[in-house]
Parts: sequence; C-alpha cells; structure tokens
Amino acid sequence: SSADIGVTGMGVMGKNLARNLARHGHKVAIHNRTASRTEAVVAEHGEEGTFIPAGSMDDFVASLSSPRVAIIMVQAGAATDAVIEELASRMDEGDIIVDCGNALFSDTRRREAALRERGLHFVGCGVSGGEEGALLGPSIMPGGSVESYKRLGPMLESISAHVDGEPCCTHVGADGAGHFVKMVHNGIEYADMQVIGEAYDLLRRALGLTPAEIADIFAEWNEGDLDSYLMEVSVEVLRRVDARSGKPLVDVIVDAAGQKGTGAWTTQTALTLGVPVTGIGEATFARGLSSSPVQREGAREFAAEAADWDVQDRDAFIEDVRQALYASKLVAYSQGFNLIQAAAAEYGWDISLGDMARIWRAGCIIRARFLGEVTRAYEANADLPLLIGDSYFHHKVVAALPSWRRVVSLSALHGVPAPVFSSSLSYYDGVRSDRLPAALIQGQRDYFGAHTYKRVDSEGSFHVLWATEDRKEVEA
Ligand code: 6PG
Repeated sequence: SSADIGVTGMGVMGKNLARNLARHGHKVAIHNRTASRTEAVVAEHGEEGTFIPAGSMDDFVASLSSPRVAIIMVQAGAATDAVIEELASRMDEGDIIVDCGNALFSDTRRREAALRERGLHFVGCGVSGGEEGALLGPSIMPGGSVESYKRLGPMLESISAHVDGEPCCTHVGADGAGHFVKMVHNGIEYADMQVIGEAYDLLRRALGLTPAEIADIFAEWNEGDLDSYLMEVSVEVLRRVDARSGKPLVDVIVDAAGQKGTGAWTTQTALTLGVPVTGIGEATFARGLSSSPVQREGAREFAAEAADWDVQDRDAFIEDVRQALYASKLVAYSQGFNLIQAAAAEYGWDISLGDMARIWRAGCIIRARFLGEVTRAYEANADLPLLIGDSYFHHKVVAALPSWRRVVSLSALHGVPAPVFSSSLSYYDGVRSDRLPAALIQGQRDYFGAHTYKRVDSEGSFHVLWATEDRKEVEA
C-alpha cells in the first residue's frame, strides 16, 4: 500500500488526471474495468511518473496508503453508484472517495450522506478544462468535508491551473457544493457560447460578413474586455476551412446544438429555487430549438417576413454588437452567481463567490480576463447582491446600454433571434424597475384564488372579498 492516490476509470479524462498527478510527483494507482486500458496507460506514459497499475478492485484499494483517496472518473449515474459501492465495501473508516465526473449535485448529496453513515468521506468534485485541462491543469471544484480536503486538497491544488502562483482549486463547501458550482459553471458556459453565437449571427446577417471576417473581428475583441478562451475557440472554428468542400467549416456543420444535460440541470435547479437565470435558460432552450427538426421544418413557410438590413455605419454596428455581447455575458454571470448564493442559503453551504471567480480564472472552459474583475468585486463585498450592481460593472453596463438596446431592437426588427441578448436586457430592465407588473399578478391571484397580497402602506396580508357585493378588503 504505497500509492498516494488512485484513479479508477481510464477514459480520456481519468487517464489525463492520473498522468497529471504522476507528473506532479504523486504515486498514482490506476484501475479500469477492462485491464488492458490500465496496461496501455503504463506502456504509453509510464515514464512520466510512478503509476501503480491494479488488475482488480481488490488490488487497487489495497495499493492505496491510508487514509485512502480514490478518484472515480466514470459515467455519471448508475455507473458511478456501482463503482462507489465497489470501493466503499473495500474501504475503512476515514477513507475518501472522490467523484470527478459531472454528477448532479443532488446525487452527490445523497451519496455523501450514505457514505458518511459508513464512516467514509465522499467528495463530489467538479473538474473543468476538458481533456487538455485534465492533463495540463484544470480548474477544480471539490466539495465534501473540510477534513477530507486536508488530505486531498494539496494534491488537487498541485495539479490545477495556476494564476500568479495561486491554484485554481479550493474547497468549495460541504457535500454537493463542488458539483453544484461546476454545474453552474457549465450553465454559464452555455450562455457564454450562445452570446458569441448571437453576435456571429447578427454580424453575418446584418453585414453579410464571411466567417473568416467575423473571426478577425472576434480576434480583435479578444484583445480587450471580451478576452476569453471561448472567444479564442470561436475564432479558430470560424477560420477553419473544410478540406472536403472548400467551404467555411461552420457552413457544413449541421446547425443542431447537442447537450449532455448540465445546462438543463442548472435551469431546472434555478426554477426550483426561483432564481432568474434567464441567460442560461435561454441558451439551453436555444440549443433545444436548434435540435427540433420537425418544428423547424414546420416553420419554414414563415420565412422571409423580416425587413432587409441596411446598416449605414458598419463599424458602429460592430461596436454595438460587441457591447451587447459584453453586457449580456455579464448578466449571465451575475445570474449564475445569484444561483450559487441561493443554493448556499438553501443547503447551508459556506461558499465564497470571490474564490469561485478566482478558481475560474484559468484552467476551465469559461476562463476569461474579466473574471479577474469579478474576483475583485466579490472580494470587496462577499455579499454583493448583484454582480452588475458592483460599481465597476455597473458603469460598464450603463456605457453598453444604448448599443445593447439598438442591437436588441434591430434584431427584433429584422427577425434575427437573439434570445440571450434580449432576455438579458429584459432582466436588466426588470431588476432595475421601480415598480413591476407583479402587483397586478398578485391582484389576479387574489381574485381567482384568494392568495392574498401585501400592501405598500401597512404590514400584514390582505384579501378582497371579490365574490361579495361590496368587495371589501379584509386582513387575511
Ligand atoms: C468543462 C466542460 C465539460 C464538457 C461539458 C460539455 O468544464 O470542461 O464543461 O464538462 O465539455 O459537459 O457540455 P455539453 O455537452 O452539454 O455541451
């Protein structure tokens, strides 16, 4: 029993995490259901560090030094439950099981509670950065007990991405907090990808630019406030010419966006907690719309009812779109952080939003320059109710507003869908409104369901006896 840590599941993510650990001087036990994969890792990468290959689950657990730490990197759901049981039944009190897959946080909470009963630590751990990140330095979001972090944390911090010497890994909070934050990270990823998509679509349809020309514009944006990994990726994809057809690659890719579920989880959770994450929700629905061939076919006859574009000042329009993109992206982050705040209150997690922004600055898919400012904002005020309310960001939004409004109006006028641009603007206008039509909704609810309402001028709940002749107001 000499391994510092073990990884079971030698798919590409598990393999790369194991290699990253070995490269950082940790002795890593590795295991896979099909043993040939384990052997292949040693054959191909054995010289990168110390691997201890295990042919069976018994050998794997036996090879771990105590308290044992075993990382699971298998499919979410039933496969994860099965592997947890195989490990747990061979482990002793104080041992630590770490699930680095994209598990649903409520599953993580259930598993953590069950294993705690058995004296084991269960850590739901978000890992972002894809295959390359796993190997070269991901952003890591571990939940679970503080005690388990003492043993596990230093190893994870050593393999994570770093910014100015600081690791992009920290203890997020108890039980499912790590997987929750990773889920919201992915939701924000959906919104971030969608706003870049909306900007591309508008530039293309309004100005008739080619994908390569839009790539050049994006490359320029990527030098400023919008500097991000996803922008970089978009430039690469838009520049790519398809070898087979000679067309831009983006024109031969079927325009139906896939999804593995984390955006939907974020949206579902937000609905349950009553937190408006409109940017993430609309981005998830936009993927759904794109992947609805029957509905899209059925709507073909609605085509060509919008006005033609006639943009007079091309550069001004491009700048407007840039501003709309920035503001909408900011709203999506602001909403995502609000969701984390609400969940922390609901589940009793002590999550530092500043730390979350800090560990997202590198390694993960949503890494972006502006996360430095987000970190600053939450470090200045840990309970900031609204990221867009921070004075730096509020100035940015106010400066973007005229452009944002023009872009949203023009997109509606010309029939170009911009669901996240427009819903984010509606959110902004809603949250800043002095009075909302929610007052009327309360009146309607009271009318048909006696659901009562509160008054602006006195305490208590009230109800109008709508069905009676004199319709008197009574205290409920
Ligand atoms: C990451 C990614 C990763 C994965 C997404 C893709 O942080 O490294 O988010 O988790 O690429 O799950 O999600 P979709 O397939 O749903 O787009």
